[in-house]
Amino acid sequence: MNQRIISANELQLACHTQGEGAPLLLIHGFPFDHTMWEPQIETLASKCRVIAPDLRGYGGSTQHDDDATIGVDMGTYAADLVDILDQLEINEPVILCGFSMGGYILWQFALKYPDHVRALVLCDTRAAADSTEASEGRIKMADTIADTGVEPLVEGLTPKLLAAETLDSRPEIVKKVQAMIRDASPAAIAASQRGMARREDVRNQLATFEGPSLVLVGAEDAISPPDEMREIADCMPQAKFQEIAKAGHMTVLENPEAVNDALQAFLDELL
Ligand code: MLT
Repeated sequence: MNQRIISANELQLACHTQGEGAPLLLIHGFPFDHTMWEPQIETLASKCRVIAPDLRGYGGSTQHDDDATIGVDMGTYAADLVDILDQLEINEPVILCGFSMGGYILWQFALKYPDHVRALVLCDTRAAADSTEASEGRIKMADTIADTGVEPLVEGLTPKLLAAETLDSRPEIVKKVQAMIRDASPAAIAASQRGMARREDVRNQLATFEGPSLVLVGAEDAISPPDEMREIADCMPQAKFQEIAKAGHMTVLENPEAVNDALQAFLDELL
């Protein structure tokens, strides 16, 4: 995998690329970084040019000093991704694959830059906005995380992210997920939480994407449940829906074989 640091908008954005061919942009979730895609990158790089950036503030990417207090909107992360593609001199439409918060960003990208998009893959994500309670919870965390540190988030999020069986009997996956959360900076977490708290409801806009799409969800996903994701797929003219067995929210880590098979089948048909 090659790593490049891309300067854009007074930021240094770390971007990992591997493989040749049609560009496939992997957008990670909250509060992770590109390493959540490790089980996918090698396999997908045999078919595509995989581009796996760290969103601003995460992994090897910087963020602005005031991002934590102002928040980073999903459309702002999407604009960073367009800058990355420009600097990589990728001029053809890309296959976008977004996981959870990456899916919120994917929609802003698809709506604002439709000419840049060839196909969509939505993994364990939502189209609805937050409830008032959920958005207040995010703001509270954004206001306090600099003082509390990330440990309360590790405790609170882990049981929601993983299937019961993963929590009980797959300590290596639990460790990997918790290590990624611990690596995230409080400033990046605050910035994303404020941005997610005010993100728009895109359910009425799902039908505007008429290209090929794949919707994947863990059978035991408690954050973006299968029924909700099936409704998303039903609204998208060309979407295929697939439930991933033996997985909660973190499908890409909990059942990478099934996720990779689904992605490979989708790419085989597309390319
Ligand atoms: C994620 O995995 O990106 C988060 O669960 C998204 C969220 O907090 O809504």
